[in-house]
Amino acid sequence: MSSALTIALAKGRILDETLPLLARAGIEPLDDLSSSRKLVFSTNDPNINLVLIRSSDVPTYVQYGAADLGIAGKDVLAEHGGEGLYERVDLKIAPCKMMTAGFAERPLPRTRLKVATKYPEITRRFFLEQGRQVELIKLYGSMELAPVVGLADIIVDLVQTGNTLKANGLTPLETIMDISSRLIVNRAALKMKNNAVRALVERIETAVE
Ligand code: PRP
Repeated sequence: MSSALTIALAKGRILDETLPLLARAGIEPLDDLSSSRKLVFSTNDPNINLVLIRSSDVPTYVQYGAADLGIAGKDVLAEHGGEGLYERVDLKIAPCKMMTAGFAERPLPRTRLKVATKYPEITRRFFLEQGRQVELIKLYGSMELAPVVGLADIIVDLVQTGNTLKANGLTPLETIMDISSRLIVNRAALKMKNNAVRALVERIETAVE
């Protein structure tokens, strides 16, 4: 079996921090990822290729072995559930928190709380552990709008600087988990391409330190 490895990277915000980290590990794409429309990239290392996809798709590609490794936020990993993959390294990039947020001055309803989020699994688990009954409203972005227009009582979203909440009159309430990007590995690849995968994980681990 070929020992060439594919790493799935997430488009968007974390890519800017991922590329310098990979460069420190000696992996540099031959094209400019942020300006190209391509999805598959060769690197200076003929045994390492990159694919560039939506962040929430990274765990799925790695789960099914379409990519051997991936770099994804703990938010999308927790939402995915982690089936078929191992979380190997905390890359300590793109740190933020998963939080509930709402209006500080508005008392929460005694009836079932309406929670809007892009993260239904994380939200369901959090409120289940607390024994609180909630109605989940799944959104795909701009969660901050939901309490403002009365679609939900609170939201569950990522908070980094807190500026987005503040700009919409919302306050962070409870922290659900600390988030940062993680290096993940397909379970079968770790067995079948053990040496190559371990060597690459070590290179990236060293680049983090
Ligand atoms: C995230 C998140 C918040 C914002 C928080 O969105 O959903 O809206 O960043 O950052 P802040 O606390 O520094 O204001 P992002 O810009 O990643 O886009 P998204 O809506 O696609 O998730």
